[in-house]
Amino acid sequence: MKHRLDKLRERLATQGLEALLIGSGYNRQYISGFTGSAGWVLVTASKSWFLTDFRYTVQAAEQVQGFDIVEHGPDPIANVGELLRGEGISSLGFEQEHTVYAQFVKWFKTLEGITLVPAPGLVEELRMIKDESELSIMQEAADLADRAFQYIQGLIKPGMKESDIALELEVFLRTGGADSSCFDTIVASGERSALPHGVASSRIIGSNEFVKLDFGALYNGYCSDITRTVAVGEVSDKHREIYDIVLEAQLHALDHIRPGMTGKEADALARDVIAKYGYGDCFGHSLGHGLGMEVHEQPGLSKRSDTVLKPGMVVTVEPGIYIPGFGGVRIEDDVVITDSGIRILTSSTKQLIVL
Ligand code: GLY
Ligand code: MN
Ligand code: MN
Repeated sequence: MKHRLDKLRERLATQGLEALLIGSGYNRQYISGFTGSAGWVLVTASKSWFLTDFRYTVQAAEQVQGFDIVEHGPDPIANVGELLRGEGISSLGFEQEHTVYAQFVKWFKTLEGITLVPAPGLVEELRMIKDESELSIMQEAADLADRAFQYIQGLIKPGMKESDIALELEVFLRTGGADSSCFDTIVASGERSALPHGVASSRIIGSNEFVKLDFGALYNGYCSDITRTVAVGEVSDKHREIYDIVLEAQLHALDHIRPGMTGKEADALARDVIAKYGYGDCFGHSLGHGLGMEVHEQPGLSKRSDTVLKPGMVVTVEPGIYIPGFGGVRIEDDVVITDSGIRILTSSTKQLIVL
């Protein structure tokens, strides 16, 4: 974790911050390696502390290197104040996106004499660029999702409930080494396939309809996120038409996404293909999102994203067409931005599978 702490300190220096307090779970884990559910990272230019309570001191001693471990009292922020005052520090950056108003008001009183400075997204920015060890874990998480898709094709049959399929997927992921699914498994069949986030329900799979499957593993702390849409029995020409358009849009985006492009430009690659066929209004979400410790993180591939894509970023590419009352298609892969283009982590087939 030392190189992460070094990079964070560079960011603090650039922003003129004397100290930073990190209490949000993913950022705390990224910087310290601690996987427990409660603790505070406090970093200055020369000191780094990890504060936690009685439940976690042994775990912290095992997991957290390069930090002084402090068992805090009933109010951890009072300990933070003492540590800062002891160093003669009079301002503290805090994670504004992860701090609720009531906390802020309380801290303001406890930290009297110390100025609280909102510090947006410092750790999130570091987390956007994955190193080789993170990428190799993410490849394994993607491989596991691919194997789950292969497995589930042999099971899906008319008469099964969507929730039965979700359970099979989740057991497969867990058996394969995942800690859990990294979001509620989506199994959306028939008309429900038009729901972009149609979490598995008790609907019975019929014949001659789509089943949209979107699932992912939380594996060694990192997520995979894959969507495939399959046909159960022969489907209509209209089903095939929208499938082919989504596939063309997805392949076009994968062929053209490059470092140096903005999230907005990447989004337009797929959106323009879908709009050309007259289905622009049926693709109402963004093309993709950053993927890492969280299933949705920075950068977005969306109409609003000016973030420039850089090597080491991992994003999903997931265009879709959703027609209420009829059905929908999404095809989603996970990709790493490389020096010259992308590397695709997920490798499941994208030809329409008819089961
Ligand atoms: N499963 C959520 C997503 O693909 O973003
Ligand atoms: Mn997904
Ligand atoms: Mn996704």
